[in-house]
Formats: sequence, structure tokens, C-alpha cells
Amino acid sequence: MALLKIVKAGAPILKETASSVKTITKNTKRLLNDMAETMYEAEGVGLAAPQIGKSLQMIVLDDGNGLIELINPELLEASEELQDGPEGCLSVPGYYGDVKRSQRIKVRALNRHGKVIVYEPEGFLARIFQHEMDHLVGTLFIEKATNLRKVEE
Ligand code: NI
Repeated sequence: MALLKIVKAGAPILKETASSVKTITKNTKRLLNDMAETMYEAEGVGLAAPQIGKSLQMIVLDDGNGLIELINPELLEASEELQDGPEGCLSVPGYYGDVKRSQRIKVRALNRHGKVIVYEPEGFLARIFQHEMDHLVGTLFIEKATNLRKVEE
């Protein structure tokens, strides 16, 4: 495993739409391992591949209940009911802002074995899914946030 360098806001790759993963290879699995290690080391709750310089539809996340890996995630449903709460991002260190997100969503993705998994996260976990999936279409939370604030590190 290896720690990867996290790309910061301003880098063009964070504005791109990520490519879908065509074939899951040994390299895909290695990248997922390295992304998870990098996320945990940085004490983040989610990390998308563009954030480590790979324009691919891959995400790792963990709301404290275990690691979830998403390959080629697709949003199937999003509740009209919204939640509003603070977010930060490893690519925008030191900043927080409030973002409205769906309270519940339904997402289909592949796991590292190529198996289709459907997730129905709610609350904070649903927020992490939505934040990370935004990274795959080149959107940062600071574009959606209100009350953006800098926190002393
Ligand atoms: Ni982020």
C-alpha cells in the first residue's frame, strides 16, 4: 500500500468528468487500497479518484461503520427531502460550508469484484455519497456551500 498525494482545489482534474472504469484489474484494486489508506491517514470520510490525480469513477468512503468502495456509481433515486449540514473536503483543506443534500438516495455501483451492489444510504452516509459522486462530475462542495468559513488548523 502507498500514500497518495491529494490534489488541491485549483487543479484542472478536479473540474473534469471522470471516465468510467472499463475493466477491473489488479491496478484498480491496488488503487482502491491506496485510496483507502490515503483517506484514513488524512482522517477523511471519503475520497474520489480525481482527488489523487486519476480521472476515474472510483470512490472510497467510511462514515465510521466500515469501508465502502464504489466503482462507476450511478444515482438511481434521490429524496426530495433535504438535509442541511457542514461539509469539508480533503482537496479544500481548512474550509467548511453548509450544503443541502438529499436525505436518502439509492446508488448502484460495482465493487472490486465487479459485482453490482445497490446502496440506500441515509443521513450523513448519504451526504458523503453525494459529495464524493460530485467529484466524479467535476463539482466541489464549495460551489454549493453557503456560509463558507475558514477554520484554523
Ligand atoms: Ni471532497
